[in-house]
Amino acid sequence: MLKIKGLKKSFGETEVLNGIDLEVNSGEVAVIVGPSGGGKTTLLRCVNGLEFCDEGTIMIENNYLCENGVYKEKKDFNEVRKSIGLVFQNFNLFPHMSVLGNLIEAPIRVLGEKETKAKEDAKEILRFLGLENKIDSYPYELSGGQKQRVAIGRALALKPKLMCFDEPTSALDPGLTGEVAELIRSLAKDGMSMLIITHDMDFAEKVADKIYSMKNGTLLEGNVFTN
Ligand SMILES: Nc1ncnc2c1ncn2[C@@H]1O[C@H](COP(=O)(O)OP(=O)(O)O)[C@@H](O)[C@H]1O
Ligand SMILES: [Mg+2]
Repeated sequence: MLKIKGLKKSFGETEVLNGIDLEVNSGEVAVIVGPSGGGKTTLLRCVNGLEFCDEGTIMIENNYLCENGVYKEKKDFNEVRKSIGLVFQNFNLFPHMSVLGNLIEAPIRVLGEKETKAKEDAKEILRFLGLENKIDSYPYELSGGQKQRVAIGRALALKPKLMCFDEPTSALDPGLTGEVAELIRSLAKDGMSMLIITHDMDFAEKVADKIYSMKNGTLLEGNVFTN
């Protein structure tokens, strides 16, 4: 589903990613652990096309986002980007929109869906997330855990082939970690491929099919920090 080869990225003189290779299979949950500053968020932003790499190849299900450091034309680039969902660390919900508004915005604007269809799909996602009673609420009326589920719902509304999560437990009360893990496992059971970044080792062990470790811009297989 996701194939990364030789990915390199520097900010000025600082090399943040120094040749990353990674494959995430269909329906697999890959988790990257590692200390702060190791390049995890930068890797995720490159995969999502929010950051351009300097060298390397990123492929989503046989479509190149970039090939040997060369990016596709904007139209094709955006087409590939649409197939990747991202749940941000701080959720990034639209504060002036209701829960429903947050879920239907991108399907209408990005996918060109009709409002009625986008609303139907959004309601189904909210049911799956146990949020149907919050459909008309605004983000400020929600708890941290609910906000995160809306953020996940908003990413799902674009029907991505790959979902990426940046530190999904870091902004939540510790008691909610298990709940997020369950939600991620149930998405995996439905066949969703996921790439998750965390520095929470317990959470990583709970959700991962495969664990990788990242430090100083290098990715290794397995959890080198606890094993
Ligand atoms: N936009 C940027 N400009 C300059 N340096 C950056 C930028 N984004 C990240 N960095 C640097 O890249 C390194 C890796 O950061 P990051 O990818 O956020 O790591 P992690 O998510 O593992 O904590 C850090 O040293 C950070 O300061
Ligand atoms: Mg980070």
